[in-house]
Amino acid sequence: MEELTGRVAFITGGASGIGLGIARACAEAGMRVALVDVRRDHLDEAGALFAGGVAHPIELDVTDRAAYAAAADEAERVLGPIALLVNNAGVGILGSLEDAGYDDWDWGLGVNLGGVVNGLQTVVPRMRGREEGHVVTTSSMAAVVPIPGAAIYITAKAAVMGLMESVRPELAKAGIGASILFPGPVKTNIRESGRLRPERFRRDTGYAEFEREMAERPDDDVWMDPLECGHRVLDGVRRDDLYILTHREFREGAQERCDAIVASFPDEAIDSERAERIGFLTSNPMYRELLGRTR
Ligand code: NAI
Repeated sequence: MEELTGRVAFITGGASGIGLGIARACAEAGMRVALVDVRRDHLDEAGALFAGGVAHPIELDVTDRAAYAAAADEAERVLGPIALLVNNAGVGILGSLEDAGYDDWDWGLGVNLGGVVNGLQTVVPRMRGREEGHVVTTSSMAAVVPIPGAAIYITAKAAVMGLMESVRPELAKAGIGASILFPGPVKTNIRESGRLRPERFRRDTGYAEFEREMAERPDDDVWMDPLECGHRVLDGVRRDDLYILTHREFREGAQERCDAIVASFPDEAIDSERAERIGFLTSNPMYRELLGRTR
């Protein structure tokens, strides 16, 4: 989707941090934006940053499917057809496997994976038939270079990466682009995520103390500005990049992971008959197409 001016973006987690950075970049590009977020205070503050008629705040918990459909209806009624869906709402649920309870798994996967599923199920059918549109889903560099101490977070972020890679060719047939955003550290309110944990997910958890501590930690100066991140996202949407990467610092780590996977294949001859029969499984032309692009 090269031309963004006059189009409508629906951005979950759009009232804070990276989502707000993307929303501001969208407004600069002449788009109208639905700021969709569960936090009323974030919506009130963020709404005031935009000129009249540009942004429409909508309160939504992305795990609530009926409310999600109503939010999409409201965005389209007020702003017009959604052309850009940004599945960005997420919680920074960190902690060890040892401390994790089922409430941690259910809340973390419910928002960070389930919210993305709900976005695709609700909004993509509206884009089909219009022959244009684009979906961006926020994963994390932690999905590309997994680190210890974030099992639930990384499970969800790796899942949404696989989900978007899987649906990209299917969406392309309907004229809909698909990108995955992999941010490195960005200055946002993510450390306050624990406050958003609904009461029903506060019983079987070992993360309560850690979440309280996280909320007190100061910002780190070298983390990226969310607006810069937003500009990088829109550049990726215009180019229909599958992968939108923001931080060069992770490249060697990503290379090591890919090399470690490739180096782990059995060092033996290919069974050519099997290779022929399972050819539809062994590679995906999408990657060749991406590697063939000139930058
Ligand atoms: P943030 O906390 O500043 O913004 C996230 C927004 O999502 C908040 O306004 C929050 O109210 C909203 N949200 C949370 N749960 C929700 C729900 N159930 N329904 C609707 N809205 C909900 O944090 P940030 O960092 O901007 O996070 C955005 C995305 O970026 C997340 O998916 C996060 O995992 C991802 N990310 C962030 C990184 C960082 O360094 N800040 C790095 C990598 C990924």
